[in-house]
Amino acid sequence: MSEGAAKKEEKPRKFQAVRGTRDLFPPETELWNRVERAAHEVFATFGFGEIRLPIFEPTELFARSIGEETDVVSKEMYTFVDRTEKLGPEPKIGAFGIFIEKVRELYRSGEIPQTGGNQLALEHMESAWKKFNGLSPDVAISLEDLDNAYQMTAYMDAMRLGIEISLRPEATASVCRAYVEHGMQALPQPVKLYYMGPMFRRERPQKGRYRQFYQIGAEVLEKEVASGEWPLEARGKRVASKEGKEVTSGPPQAGVASKELAKDAAVDAEVIEMVIAFFDRLELQGVQLDINSIGDRNCRPKYIELLRAELLKVKDKLGLDSQRRIETNPLRVLDSKLESEQGIIATLPRIGDHLCEECATHYAAVKHQLEMRGVIYRENWRLVRGLDYYMRTTFEITAKGLGSQNAVCGGGRYDGLVELLGGPPTKGIGFAIGEDRLILSLQESGKGVVATGRDVYIAWMGERAHATAIRAAKDLRKAGFSVELPPVEQKFGKALGQADKLGAKYALILGDNEVSEGLWTLKTLADGSQAKYTEPDLLEHLSKQRALKL
Ligand code: HAM
Repeated sequence: MSEGAAKKEEKPRKFQAVRGTRDLFPPETELWNRVERAAHEVFATFGFGEIRLPIFEPTELFARSIGEETDVVSKEMYTFVDRTEKLGPEPKIGAFGIFIEKVRELYRSGEIPQTGGNQLALEHMESAWKKFNGLSPDVAISLEDLDNAYQMTAYMDAMRLGIEISLRPEATASVCRAYVEHGMQALPQPVKLYYMGPMFRRERPQKGRYRQFYQIGAEVLEKEVASGEWPLEARGKRVASKEGKEVTSGPPQAGVASKELAKDAAVDAEVIEMVIAFFDRLELQGVQLDINSIGDRNCRPKYIELLRAELLKVKDKLGLDSQRRIETNPLRVLDSKLESEQGIIATLPRIGDHLCEECATHYAAVKHQLEMRGVIYRENWRLVRGLDYYMRTTFEITAKGLGSQNAVCGGGRYDGLVELLGGPPTKGIGFAIGEDRLILSLQESGKGVVATGRDVYIAWMGERAHATAIRAAKDLRKAGFSVELPPVEQKFGKALGQADKLGAKYALILGDNEVSEGLWTLKTLADGSQAKYTEPDLLEHLSKQRALKL
């Protein structure tokens, strides 16, 4: 049967978007565009530049950055093996020997991952091939050879023949990867970047929670200044050398460390101030900012041990998830929304009482900086966030009308992440806004109304009027007006009805009379009034009305 004939026999089938994904289309996309335009504008006023990142990255990047034990990495990523193209298609049985040799070579070079599973499968595949005897055309294939052939293909299928790739569940890891890859530490610091686009997490879909969702985020990265590069007076006590020159000795002055902490706090506060400025621009309603400090590698491990010990005392009263988390990540118990656990959580030790001196100084400075900027916040000692890379500042913003998924923005500080990804010691702070939730909140509070429709609908009749209508549409569009030009002539009554349906502000009526007189009729659809204009006067009139926002 020819391919064409086979195609004709296929039954038509309707498709639906995959669960947790959705289409966005007009007029709603106009609101998405407005939000994104505002982000470009507001972030630029804070000196941020846009970065566009790949949609997928090696799984290991996310595992290292976000943490193997987190929900995002352990359960929610869309992961697949990117079969190396050096291998070619699956071999016919006779070419298996060559195929195995190639696999062995790529395994040695690391292009096929050197995992225990791959090593084992490769060995089994080789041994089955050695035993295989089914290539001779004269001998009937034995049961044993059938089994060997089956084993070869089964082990081939079991191998991971390339690196593991994941659709990005977030973008902070990618920004840090890009910072290292492009040597951005050599640029003037800090490097301030923002991004927007789709992210992917296999979560249970519900209102405000999707498997493909959109984030607008920003990151500030700053290479740490090594103590050797500090200004002379910062490195230690100034003393006179034998030659009478001023040199330094002794430990760095405490002032330097506290200056650094104050600087970090100002950066944290400015990043938060930027999100709030963006939300203000959009008139987002019911904005509530929660902040916390989750300490650093000096003080957090001790607090976690204390928390674990306290949780073990009440283990029986906790739900299964929290019981498991006592071992894997006790901090996440604080995140629990389970009603029965709330009373217990309220009695647990709070990290704020266990911060080391540096973290406490930094946290106090962040609060002071927020106050200086008029940013209203609420301290929330239970705000620990679900990604491993955070230290010190964490924050989350909720907004009106979102139900249980009410976090519209989350962020925090992540000094050390760039280093973990092979870069120099670098400080980092950033946030990501859930754009779907932001849009939902704007819509629910009536702030998501966008102008749709057209400025001008051209109602034309007759061949001469058609040519004039085409020219008028071109000139109006050039001047920035949205114009609907019907492709065929319509009776004026029908045209006006159509203009109404499309929500046009004006109908430009072009018939034989208008064209021969050079006076065009403009009808304002809201009140039905109409007036005649010459061509240049019409453009001037419409431009004036637009300036007056009429
Ligand atoms: P996150 O808290 O995982 O942080 O996500 C940030 C925001 O993305 C959430 O507050 C929420 O609005 C939105 N979001 C997350 N998952 C979904 C979903 N399944 N459906 C709809 N919206 C969702 C991060 O992603 C960090 N990378 C933020 C960051 C940047 N921290 C430092 N820099």
